[in-house]
Amino acid sequence: MKEEEAKKRIEELRNRINYHNYRYYILADPEISDEKYDELYRELVSLEEQFPQLITPDSPTQKVGGEPLKEFKSVRHELPMLSLDNTYNFDEIREFDRRIKELLGVNEDIEYTVEPKIDGVAVRVVYEKGVLKLGATRGNGIVGDDITENIKTIKRLPLKLLDATIDIDVRGEVFMDRNTFLELNEIREESGEKPFANPRNAAAGSLKLLDPKEVAKRNLDLFIHSVSRQIFPDISTHFDTLKRLRKLGLPVIENNALATGINEVIDAINSWDKLREEQRYMTDGMVIKVNRLDFHDKLGNTAKAPRWAIAYKFKAKQARTELKDVIFQVGRTGIVTPVAILKPVFLAGSTISRTTLHNMDEIKRLGIKIGDTVVVEKGGDVIPKIVGYESSYRKGNEKEILPPKICPVCESKLVKLPDEVAIRCININCPAQIKRRIEHFAERNAMDIRGLGEELISKLVDTGFVKDIASIYTLKPEELMSIERMGKKSSENLIAAIEKSKDRDYFRVLYALGIRYVGINTAKILAKKYRNIDELAEAKSDDLASIEGVGPKIAESITDFFNTARNRDLIEKLKNFGVRMESEKMESGPKPLKGLKIVVTGSLKNYSRQEIKDLIESMGGHSTESVSKATDYVIVGENPGSKYEKALKLNIKTISEEEFEKLIGKN
Ligand code: IVH
Repeated sequence: MKEEEAKKRIEELRNRINYHNYRYYILADPEISDEKYDELYRELVSLEEQFPQLITPDSPTQKVGGEPLKEFKSVRHELPMLSLDNTYNFDEIREFDRRIKELLGVNEDIEYTVEPKIDGVAVRVVYEKGVLKLGATRGNGIVGDDITENIKTIKRLPLKLLDATIDIDVRGEVFMDRNTFLELNEIREESGEKPFANPRNAAAGSLKLLDPKEVAKRNLDLFIHSVSRQIFPDISTHFDTLKRLRKLGLPVIENNALATGINEVIDAINSWDKLREEQRYMTDGMVIKVNRLDFHDKLGNTAKAPRWAIAYKFKAKQARTELKDVIFQVGRTGIVTPVAILKPVFLAGSTISRTTLHNMDEIKRLGIKIGDTVVVEKGGDVIPKIVGYESSYRKGNEKEILPPKICPVCESKLVKLPDEVAIRCININCPAQIKRRIEHFAERNAMDIRGLGEELISKLVDTGFVKDIASIYTLKPEELMSIERMGKKSSENLIAAIEKSKDRDYFRVLYALGIRYVGINTAKILAKKYRNIDELAEAKSDDLASIEGVGPKIAESITDFFNTARNRDLIEKLKNFGVRMESEKMESGPKPLKGLKIVVTGSLKNYSRQEIKDLIESMGGHSTESVSKATDYVIVGENPGSKYEKALKLNIKTISEEEFEKLIGKN
């Protein structure tokens, strides 16, 4: 191909990819299959390889992360990045409303927008002529860090807007979603690194990395929530500004509501308090903003914050209880983790009787002792945690928490590597490690073997019926029935569930094997690249390391795994039992749900949550988490949650499990 011709084709591919990114990331409504998209993308990569002089910084291929930096440059913000005034109670919200009316000299109800306050890191993003030019942290509000290269790795943030004439300076919040956070921490704990305390710290820590390729792996996300200066002459409200930003292809904050008068604001806050734990992102409050932009101008700013907005912050829910003991638990990879045993205490919807303390450093940081009255907090967080203790309640007989010297399960000597915070049991035959490996194998995201839980696995290993992962496939009903509390019916059900697991998707099997650092996302990437396990087993470390989202550390762990005879043996055995070890052929079979967006709520009779999601996707549909106007169907099971109410409110078609099966031609 001649350069002229390549240039034209490259241009065309970039436009198409940008458009499909918008459909996929912003509208959550893709028009083409992943395979078709990959094809376009690969063609662009290959043309850019042939004609490197044609690569431009706004090409969609430039999202994988550039070269590492020595340090961040400073950026002076043209307009200061302000903060928000905070309140924790509704009286102050009412006071805010009164003040606004007084300053504006109006009597009628004010229209407000009520938005989630994203618990992340404030950033500024600048586009010139539709092209992303700058990403910066807030810093002290006047001067921040230039983190353009890091921000570019955020998949939902376009390098180019859908309108190439726009100059715009927007503000938003970078965050890490709950699942990514949990997975990142799991991997950090596996490698003896300190886990992040919460998704916000994880996002902040990730943005500070100097190597954009490392940032790309952190899977950060972003919500744009404002413009630093109004630039749309035809728009008169904040709400419509956000709408316009979305049309430009930006990842604009979701779940913003309009409210007229302060009572509606308070209603909106209350209804969000119930929904917020279902979201993939963390919120620490709500932001209430006057909707009319001419009012913004009239109200102006104080030195610190705009007068037209206020943040209502949720109080972290806390409880006090006794720390009865600290036990040490051995994980799948031998890491020994301290776990706090608490006098059961009820907090924000559930009873808490134990919680992880992560590592000895954390215990030292908290300064807690056994017998202390500790403060447990649940801040819309995934996991409750101990945040401190009451020093005035100390009697003097509290017991220091000492690190163990021998494995609490197999009694072999524990080791601590010099640059790790973790303590490890390095006996791979330690029964605790075997149990954890099997628990991991059977868990929901992995082989999803219902009925094979922690307690039963423990008994099966202790009785010797199960010695390793493979041996669960040779379990006999008589063996199961000899276990306390296992009847005929539950034993048969379990055998059936084990049998069913053989047909799980290949990427789930890869994840289930428990290869160090290979979380569910990495497993998906690997399964796409290497269509069967033999190809993966033979992959060279360098090739693995060059895959986007993998890198050298994971690559080495994968090759180590396959170089270990015991693991190869396990895979052979699993293959012989008929466990799926290759990707299914794509694009075969009917797609009755093509393009439909479907939400599931409540528990179903015939499917686990994961099974129904997989089924929807395999039939061409999109399984999404939250109900919106764009949702086509809500499948309603037993005890449906708030998604059901939302569906009714928005007039979205609700169907039963049976009706769903009819839809896909089952029955
Ligand atoms: S509007 C002039 N909207 O909260 C400041 N801020 O505590 C306008 N934040 O630094 C901010 N979610 O980064 C706004 N929906 C939202 C937000 C939000 C999170 C952050 C923001 C700001 C901080 C202030």
